[in-house]
Amino acid sequence: MTSVHLPVLYLEVLSGLAVHPGGTYIDCTAGAGGHTSGLLEKSEPNGRVLALDVDPKALDFVRQRLAPWGERLTLVQANFARLNAVAQDHNFGQVDGILMDLGWSSMQLADESRGFSFRAEGPLDMRYDPTLPHTAGDLVNTLPEKDLANLLWQFGEEHRSRKIARAIVRNRPVRTADQLAKIISQTTQRGHTRIHPATKTFLALRTYVNKEAKVLQTALPQAVALLRPGGRLAVISFHSLEDRIVKNFFRQEERDCICPVEQLTCVCEHHAILRRITRKPITPEAGELGRNPRSRSAKLRIAERIRSSTSQRS
Ligand SMILES: C[S@@+](CC[C@H](N)C(=O)[O-])C[C@H]1O[C@@H](n2cnc3c(N)ncnc32)[C@H](O)[C@@H]1O
Repeated sequence: MTSVHLPVLYLEVLSGLAVHPGGTYIDCTAGAGGHTSGLLEKSEPNGRVLALDVDPKALDFVRQRLAPWGERLTLVQANFARLNAVAQDHNFGQVDGILMDLGWSSMQLADESRGFSFRAEGPLDMRYDPTLPHTAGDLVNTLPEKDLANLLWQFGEEHRSRKIARAIVRNRPVRTADQLAKIISQTTQRGHTRIHPATKTFLALRTYVNKEAKVLQTALPQAVALLRPGGRLAVISFHSLEDRIVKNFFRQEERDCICPVEQLTCVCEHHAILRRITRKPITPEAGELGRNPRSRSAKLRIAERIRSSTSQRS
């Protein structure tokens, strides 16, 4: 693995989670272990951290890098869709803080065999978890044109989805990530921005292959259930689909009633369980943007659990 991933919004995450000595924390997305090591350091001398990653290569890297932390760190190869079961298995319940730093790491991007980068000459894979049944290549080479266009629209908000889908189908088989990026560049005109024209297509394929939206929706309530009252959940997202899921979830869980507005009397029996710490997402300062261009689209949202599951509405 060549380029080590720089943790995004590092200080903001550690202060936002109010990491303290002796606390217990879960990092759902270990990556290169940047945030994980911050959690370990700030919870010295006896805090415990459970770190998950679904990518076995990432986990091997973190295992070596963070070995000096010894038994204070528990590493598990797992999808955070199974957060609750993994936490229970390793005796992490009622924790002080949970982090989700979504998407790919710089190491995954730099690894040609993963197919995440526009320049990658390796197979068009895009799976974080190599045991998933379908790669991005399977999708672009087998989906009917209309379904492919719908996927690009729904998961990448790509306005040129039909045009791109048509070009992909005409150029099948598409074997590599750089081949796909070239097909899209030739099909669409680069706008006035420096954003690559294939950005939204790659985002849509990656999101779909890894079921990212669904996994996030499944994991957020599990994370809240694992927090002690006063414990905090921090989520860093990198595109609007993910950020919307987090924003809407935090808003909903802050309300005592989620009945539709036309419902005059509450029948939902929903109880507020979160308090938003960030009304607006935290974004990187200019200094970080200069040091780490990947942080460009990062948005950090933080919420705090306000009640135990047994307490009644007052
Ligand atoms: C942005 S990186 C995390 C970087 C990390 N915070 C650091 O400081 O090095 C995201 C990581 O999450 C992992 N990942 C993505 N989706 C996952 C999921 N559903 N379950 C577990 N890990 C996931 C990816 O494999 C990747 O290694």
